[in-house]
Amino acid sequence: MADKERLSELGERLTEVNEGLSETSEGTAEASACLICAGGELLEGGDGVRFEIELDGEAAPAFAIRYGGRVYGYLNRCAHIAMELDWKLGKFFDADAEYLICSTHGALYAPESGACRGGPCRGAALVGLNMFEAEGKIYMKRS
Ligand code: FES
Repeated sequence: MADKERLSELGERLTEVNEGLSETSEGTAEASACLICAGGELLEGGDGVRFEIELDGEAAPAFAIRYGGRVYGYLNRCAHIAMELDWKLGKFFDADAEYLICSTHGALYAPESGACRGGPCRGAALVGLNMFEAEGKIYMKRS
């Protein structure tokens, strides 16, 4: 329960940060965002790219995936229990590449929103990050 509350709190804070960022003027990608990887590293429904973000002064695991032609990023933290999702480093999708799946108890998440679609994460969601692709590279907007 404490984990769910913390995840919800983190989600709200990241939403506030993302909203604040969208109100700032657009600069170059490098000035306003962190480079995560080359766009070609993320294949549709394929392996994700793991990276870390700073959250509350600490490093927190995160990942990026490509789904439906778009890039999405989330904290690598299940909404059920704060465990990393990937069953093998970078393996976030289920066998059909339809959902993101947690390796611990099998929670399923919609890749395009992070919303729980099955399993013990009912009503919860992954914490989303503000990702974008520009000039063949994947970035996360800075907080
Ligand atoms: S820790 Fe992810 S489903 Fe339980």
